[in-house]
Amino acid sequence: MAPFEVLMPLPGMPEIAERLERRVTLHKLWEAKDSEAMLTAVAPDVRAVVSTWVAAPVDAELMRRLPKLEIVASFGVGYDHIDAAWAGEHGIVVTHTPGVLDEDVADLAIALTLAATRRLPQAERYLRAGLWPGGAFPLTASLRGRVMGILGLGRIGKAIARRAEAFGLGVAYHGRHRQDGVAYPYYASPAALAEACDILVIAAPGGPGTRHIVDARVLAALGRDGVLVNVARGSLVDEAALVTALRDGVILAAGLDVYAGEPNVSAELIGLDNAVLLPHVASATRHTRLAMANLLVDNLLSWIDGKGPLTPTPETPWRR
Ligand code: NAP
Ligand code: 8YV
Repeated sequence: MAPFEVLMPLPGMPEIAERLERRVTLHKLWEAKDSEAMLTAVAPDVRAVVSTWVAAPVDAELMRRLPKLEIVASFGVGYDHIDAAWAGEHGIVVTHTPGVLDEDVADLAIALTLAATRRLPQAERYLRAGLWPGGAFPLTASLRGRVMGILGLGRIGKAIARRAEAFGLGVAYHGRHRQDGVAYPYYASPAALAEACDILVIAAPGGPGTRHIVDARVLAALGRDGVLVNVARGSLVDEAALVTALRDGVILAAGLDVYAGEPNVSAELIGLDNAVLLPHVASATRHTRLAMANLLVDNLLSWIDGKGPLTPTPETPWRR
């Protein structure tokens, strides 16, 4: 039987290649001296692409070059770097890793909420700079009496909401739909949610449908005591408007894990004292990343074994 040929554009967790290489021929594009030549040589036989990082797009241009492509298996729940709609229209399955990362990502959303509101990194820098003997660190804002608005009350949004309730926060949400069986107040637009809350947490998917849905108007509605937390994708926020809002005191602070041009982060953001900035680490624990790696491989092996994908994206033409 011909080997099942898989293209892997970028490295990922070692466990992914280790498990896959027992069953498939893996073409590691990043190891090639001339990646374009390697792609041209292997393209006619590639049946799967393994996507390990959002920085490597799997777009129509790449997929068109792979005439035997059956499946794209992606590491992560967000797949805005993959043209899943084009894949679906062309009978190509796209899988992702929903559900296994919710708790760690929700933990980080709460950590950013606390860090930005209570100015924890700034307080630590104050101590390390030897400033404490000269006087106490200034008082900060508090979570007491505040409402968290969750933009995107999905798997991760709900895990954040559970934590927010335990912290005594009120919870409200926005999505395209009001959800049956959810008691939190629903707001029909991001601006209406921002108006009603003090801490706006973004947990909706990236992509053209959500680009810049947090803009200058939404930030103005969040208000001068407001805190913005983003654990979703940088593309949802108009970053220039956010810089202006943080600089001019339109909002109080921001806690960000994701950026428009990551891994590059704008110098303006880096220069702002009221922004807490993390390098896209919300799911980056050994526990969760291993679960994501295993789910990626399980999806691909299930496909190869003729059992279908385990966690296909909604755009995928697959019905059990
Ligand atoms: P999910 O379960 O599909 O939830 C997404 C939520 O967003 C849904 O409640 C959906 O509600 C809402 N939504 C979708 N489109 C929207 C729109 N145009 N406007 C407003 N709300 C919209 O997804 P999840 O598993 O919770 O993951 C959410 C996102 O988090 C991922 O797509 C990914 O980008 C990001 N993420 C980031 C990290 C990180 O490391 N920072 C880790 C994991 C995930 P409606 O259908 O009612 O609109
Ligand atoms: C990963 C993520 O860090 O799941 C997602 O959508 O953003 C993260 O869990 C990322 O996908 C790794 O490329």
